[in-house]
Amino acid sequence: MKVLDKKVAVITGAASGIGRSLALGLMKEGCFLALADYNKKGLDETVRLVKDAGGAAMSQVVDVADRAQVDRFAAAVIKKYKQADIVVNNAGVTLFGRLEDVSYREFDWIMGINLWGVVYGTRAFLPHLKNRPEACVVNLSSAFGLIGVPSQTTYCATKFAVRGFTESLQRELKDTRVTAISVHPGGIKTNIAFNARFTSGFGKDANKKFAKRFDRMARTTADEAAKAIIGAIKRKKRRLLIGADAKIIDIIQRLFPSMYGRVMDALYG
Ligand SMILES: NC(=O)c1ccc[n+]([C@@H]2O[C@H](COP(=O)([O-])OP(=O)(O)OC[C@H]3O[C@@H](n4cnc5c(N)ncnc54)[C@H](O)[C@@H]3O)[C@@H](O)[C@H]2O)c1
Repeated sequence: MKVLDKKVAVITGAASGIGRSLALGLMKEGCFLALADYNKKGLDETVRLVKDAGGAAMSQVVDVADRAQVDRFAAAVIKKYKQADIVVNNAGVTLFGRLEDVSYREFDWIMGINLWGVVYGTRAFLPHLKNRPEACVVNLSSAFGLIGVPSQTTYCATKFAVRGFTESLQRELKDTRVTAISVHPGGIKTNIAFNARFTSGFGKDANKKFAKRFDRMARTTADEAAKAIIGAIKRKKRRLLIGADAKIIDIIQRLFPSMYGRVMDALYG
């Protein structure tokens, strides 16, 4: 999709981080925007930033884990714009805790947003994407959709699932004009760590402490991540690694498919 001008781009999780940067980036490419998030304050702020920069955006408060809400959002987008060309299933959360400390309620919470949110968003918009001369669905997995990581069993389960879902869909879509892109960012400086949930063993203020550490570790900005995603949409890339850390993780996983844990421990402790 070389030219993004006048395309309709749908973005979930647009109130913060990568979603907000994508909204601004796609607006600059000339896209009309349809933005969703369950954080109304952050969503309104993104819409304000888009409009101040001369762009057009509709927005809707949507919990992506609720299928009926996602379906209503898709209907509202089609009613307003009559089309959808790009759908970015970006909304996501993380949860820290060893498997034995995670409750099923917490497991359901992260699965609902990170996996079912992607499935609902893809299914709700796919028939509309198929009506377009060219279109794409972009699903946010992670570098943790390539390797398993301790205290991230739930997050990795969702992000491996998003990769499997998206790669299977790519094959189903091979005779259509729709591209499915699986995105694997490394550490991106956003609010994800601050918004993370922690199991009880981590104690109070775990998210504040971790967010500080994460901010030092994460090397890529949300704007850089958005730029890479827009480049992948234009080039119809089906797999996108963002950041040197994601690229290193990918190489280590390929070289040592069953031993990468030891290699990572030796490198990063
Ligand atoms: N930041 C990173 O290092 C990193 C790395 C790999 C993958 N990712 C993925 O990138 C995506 C964007 O994350 P980010 O880093 O910009 O984080 P972020 O916390 O800054 O943004 C995530 C957005 O998703 C929204 N959201 C959460 N639950 C929702 C729900 N139920 N319904 C609707 N919206 C909801 C939040 O309100 C927020 O605006 C996520 O899928 C994340 O897993 C991030």
